[in-house]
Amino acid sequence: MSDEVKFYEPTVYIPEAEIKTRVRELAEKINEEFGGSELTVICTLKGSIVFFADLIRHLNMPVVCEFLGMSSYGNHTTSTGEVKVTLDLNEPLIGKNVLVVEDIVDSGLTLNYVIEYLKVRKPASVKTAALLLKPDALKAHQLQIDYVGFQIPNKFVVGYGLDYAEKFRGLPYIGVIET
Ligand code: IMP
Repeated sequence: MSDEVKFYEPTVYIPEAEIKTRVRELAEKINEEFGGSELTVICTLKGSIVFFADLIRHLNMPVVCEFLGMSSYGNHTTSTGEVKVTLDLNEPLIGKNVLVVEDIVDSGLTLNYVIEYLKVRKPASVKTAALLLKPDALKAHQLQIDYVGFQIPNKFVVGYGLDYAEKFRGLPYIGVIET
């Protein structure tokens, strides 16, 4: 197999069915915790789009969808924690219960920045959900992640919204690439 073929065919790491089951479990926990209270669910662009879309379809409470666009000042595979907001929220957060939906927590610096950015707007509460967490890469040790889908080793993963150089977001599974 040539390198080029390997690049375009990630190895399945978490299969589609497993993700589906886990996302449903996370939604059930969120439903239990919030009951029927309105929840503002914030999708961090772009990597969280697929997780966000699947998660909100299993939530039972009234959901307000918001989108937060961010680009990291780091290079593609490492984060500096300094984040540029490229698309801001539409609605005020004051007094709202907020759930931030993040694709993957690596160093945790991005999510940490997002939480601080949102808290300034005086929401009633801020909870966080991350589909993937790389515990060995975590630098923001005080970071509170309320709902974690899967803990994974320090590998670069793609698919289910996650990209490598803007590719692979549409894959229905989480895969690893050998570049
Ligand atoms: P952190 O600030 O180091 O936690 O990085 C978080 C962001 O980096 C995520 O929202 C992703 O956009 C990106 N990222 C980190 N690890 C991966 C990976 O394995 N695959 C794809 N993107 C990643």
